[in-house]
Amino acid sequence: MPAQYSPPAALSVEEKATLVVGSGFWHTAAVPGIRSIMVADGPHGLRKQAAGGDHLGIGVSVPATCFPPAVALASTFNTQLVERVGIALGEEARAEDVAVLLGPGVNIKRSPLCGRNFEYFSEDPLVSGELGAALVRGLQSQGVGASLKHFAANNQETNRMTVSADIDERTLREIYLPAFETIVTREQPWTVMCSYNRLNGVATAESHWLLTTLLREEWGFSGLVVSDWGAVDGRVAALVAGTDLEMPGPQADSHAAVMQALRDGSLKESTLDVAVERVRALVTRASTASSTGETGGDGSSTGATAGNGSSVPVGARVYADRHHELAREAAAESIVLLRNEGGVLPLSPAATITVIGELARSPRIQGAGSSQVNPTRVDNPLEELRTRASVDFAAGYTLGADTNGTLHDEAVQLAARSDVVLLFLGLPEGEESEGYDRTRLDLPQDQLALVAAIAAVNPRTVVVLTNGGVVTLEPWHDDVAGILECWLLGQAGGRAIADVVFGDTNPSGRLAETIPFRLQDTPSFLNFPGDGNVVRYSEGMFVGYRHYETIGLAARYPFGFGLSYTSFGYTDLRVRRDQVSVTVTNTGKRAGKEVVQLYVSAPSGQAGTPLRELRGFTKVTLDPGESRVVSVTLGARAFSYWDVESSAWVVAGGTYEVQLGRSAHDIVLTAPFRRSSTRKEHPLTMESPVSAWLAHPVTGPILRRAAARESPKEGGTSLLEMVGSMPMRRLLRFPGVEIDHAQLQLLRRVANNPAVLGLARGVARIRSA
Ligand code: BGC
Repeated sequence: MPAQYSPPAALSVEEKATLVVGSGFWHTAAVPGIRSIMVADGPHGLRKQAAGGDHLGIGVSVPATCFPPAVALASTFNTQLVERVGIALGEEARAEDVAVLLGPGVNIKRSPLCGRNFEYFSEDPLVSGELGAALVRGLQSQGVGASLKHFAANNQETNRMTVSADIDERTLREIYLPAFETIVTREQPWTVMCSYNRLNGVATAESHWLLTTLLREEWGFSGLVVSDWGAVDGRVAALVAGTDLEMPGPQADSHAAVMQALRDGSLKESTLDVAVERVRALVTRASTASSTGETGGDGSSTGATAGNGSSVPVGARVYADRHHELAREAAAESIVLLRNEGGVLPLSPAATITVIGELARSPRIQGAGSSQVNPTRVDNPLEELRTRASVDFAAGYTLGADTNGTLHDEAVQLAARSDVVLLFLGLPEGEESEGYDRTRLDLPQDQLALVAAIAAVNPRTVVVLTNGGVVTLEPWHDDVAGILECWLLGQAGGRAIADVVFGDTNPSGRLAETIPFRLQDTPSFLNFPGDGNVVRYSEGMFVGYRHYETIGLAARYPFGFGLSYTSFGYTDLRVRRDQVSVTVTNTGKRAGKEVVQLYVSAPSGQAGTPLRELRGFTKVTLDPGESRVVSVTLGARAFSYWDVESSAWVVAGGTYEVQLGRSAHDIVLTAPFRRSSTRKEHPLTMESPVSAWLAHPVTGPILRRAAARESPKEGGTSLLEMVGSMPMRRLLRFPGVEIDHAQLQLLRRVANNPAVLGLARGVARIRSA
């Protein structure tokens, strides 16, 4: 255990400049009175590299529990479960004397092609924020800091170190920032990691707006900002913007630049001091936590074998069994049952089962890159299935690039002879990784040929998918009886799959991202991954289901979708203030879990707003026949939008609809909900468009009456609507417009008088009642 922290003596400027850059891959620098602490990658397991370091997942790390990556955890929609995973991560990190775990990553899945989507939760900001917050809460409860990453708008790997994500303000506020905002304001992560990319032209490491104005002044962040590994170009500019700690280090040029800037006065020592204090505070926090916290677990471990054959150190060994069991529980709850024709699943152990697919024997449990964990053990799906039933196996394909005709033929022959086929398909490791993006959404060609041939000889084929990013299910979807989307499930995924296949676990995962029919249907298709230098987020807020639902484009499976071995019914949707309640009933014959999804649809006609947005969710467990009233609180944001004109969250007044959905596409109950506007009225000026004069409760009726007198045929209105976007001042310049300028000015002054305005509003309300 590290020694108790003791207050440091004053530091020299040299020492201060040393402290704000790391020491090696995973440590902060030590200076007199301030010890060095260790950080290590997550997010779904501890990747502690004891000797030698790299941030690409290449070198060895100590064995640790490999939990399901975020792509899978998101499908659980279960914040309590994710919090428990966070606690377990914290226990392992603390036992290994790691002060900060580098995660979670809460970037939005803008395109299903992003190579790192397996490390992110969802296309939806609410899901990303709630599950990310749960993970941080669990982790930090153990005295281990989180590093919320990658802040912000790192939504692709192509040119990730240079590309500028160009995003309009409202989209940024409503889609790409809320997950960060939720976690910062609610959980205060110990650290936030800036991203590699530029945001609207400015490197995030050097963005004062992002790292100081927004993060600290607006959201109240009090922790430390660390750079992503190698994200800092100009150390002085980054310091001024708010990047407290540069990693990795040491960096001679950064040190020299800071010293030079202090000498020539372009950097104030007080600015450096701020960053120094934050590093000092982080070290204090870590030291206090590790000296007061308890380490060690239940001691029930029988010892584990690491995935790379090395021996399991104390930290992981203590927790190995318990955490493996938690990894299994999380994995089982992550699996999404997409298709179950004729109730092909769950299987009876008495059936003759054929398992086909190399991925059943050589499972992919996680994605490649900096998050790659060395698992304490790996459950093999094929072996797990064999412990419960008599199972034949054929590999069918290899995970290499070559098509193997012999493997294909053997598999098809075997499939023809069996009751039911479990066909494991998915993406080989090379297809997706940190560092690059995918270019297609299909499964590999040899697997597509195999599924076609197998479905042709055995209609009772169930496809079991392994993939970190979304794959399309075409053209084979309709030819198979069942589909289980298993994502990447971590080290206990093998047993979790067997649990679901045989019905020991009733599947309860729901899609946290849309499965499209075609790559061309995806919202960012025309602007991903940009031109090399810039990527324009021209789809705006219409990311994921917001796109499909708003334009009425069908997806193969919508966001929120997932089947169960039981069924659920909903009645009595009620809205009282911000409390929504609904009665959920398990109408089937098995116990099961349901994800209650609440969407909100803004008053019609609110320009630029998605048709509906997920604003609340919860998960409920019900026995057969059991009913429960479930309540969900919808936060203030559920009815707000970011108003660019006033730079604030604003409620557009009117009737909202609260919608209970089985998915973003399948709305089963609705309830109206009135909200009054919080939009500040802008006083009328001669620059206000004619439409604003018409919409105004004082001037509107007067102008309409006048227009009706001028052109009685159309009632005057269409004429006025035609010039609606024209500033009033310009309208007056047109020959033939008989509006008296002085009278109009008088009318404007009267209209802007608060007392008159109040009166006019009252009259309008009475008239419309
Ligand atoms: C990744 C981060 C990671 C860091 C340290 C970077 O390349 O983007 O997510 O935490 O390396 O390994």
